[in-house]
Amino acid sequence: MSTSLGTPGTARDIVRTRFTATQRTLHWLMAAAILAMLFIGVGMKSTITPKYLTLVSIHKPLGIAILVLALLRLGVRLRFGTPPLPADLPAPMRLGAVLSHWALYALMIVMPLLGWAMLSAAGYPIRLGAGITLPPILAQDDHLHAVLWSLHSNLAFVFFALILLHLAAGLFHALVRRDGVFEAMAPVSDNSVPGHRTPTAAE
Ligand code: HEM
Ligand code: HEM
Repeated sequence: MSTSLGTPGTARDIVRTRFTATQRTLHWLMAAAILAMLFIGVGMKSTITPKYLTLVSIHKPLGIAILVLALLRLGVRLRFGTPPLPADLPAPMRLGAVLSHWALYALMIVMPLLGWAMLSAAGYPIRLGAGITLPPILAQDDHLHAVLWSLHSNLAFVFFALILLHLAAGLFHALVRRDGVFEAMAPVSDNSVPGHRTPTAAE
């Protein structure tokens, strides 16, 4: 939760205490979209009524939109980096944050690709609505479809668990440590918060 995906690189990072407006907008927009996707997925799994078709017709285009936004976000992240971490953040928390942020980025890209690949292997047309149909990215293969379906389903649980951990870490920074990490990603700036994210020479 509390650090970047790697070494903050640019000179711009050293003085910045918040993520850029684009990074914050993408973060909160995608958080809402991904949580919706997880619940829509579970809804699809638990109904055999015609609502299934409505849910799938939202799940597919929203999932592909998440893929596009995740790639855009990765580009923005590589270009602008992250604000430096609080100097007193313990090393295990830094490591936990780096690993969990990498995992979240990976899942934001892998989950939609798995959905796309799974439908390709099943031989289904991947219709997104508005006349848009994606080409298959795999040849039809029933065994592969079963493997990809199982991966899509199991990784969804991993994704959910990681998001809960991430949320808990965010609240820990906001309410317990009050170290400015939450404010760095908060949609709006709140100057009344006592914590601050102090850059250090090492970062
Ligand atoms: C689907 C849900 C979410 C996903 C996939 C997600 C993903 C991420 C990722 C990948 C980062 C690293 C940013 C970067 O280095 O570019 C991040 C940072 C952050 N997220 Fe989330 N997030 C989600 C929801 C939330 C929620 C609900 C909170 C509220 C507590 C939150 C709070 C934060 C904070 C405070 C940071 C900044 C961490 C730092 O300064 O290093 N996130 N998030
Ligand atoms: C961030 C992106 C995505 C998330 C978080 C997500 C999540 C989920 C979840 C939680 C389920 C229910 C799992 C289960 O059956 O146990 C599911 C099912 C499904 N997903 Fe996704 N998904 C994503 C992207 C996609 C994409 C892009 C497609 C296709 C283009 C897709 C196609 C499907 C299909 C067809 C099912 C239903 C499988 C069935 O009926 O058994 N998903 N997804």
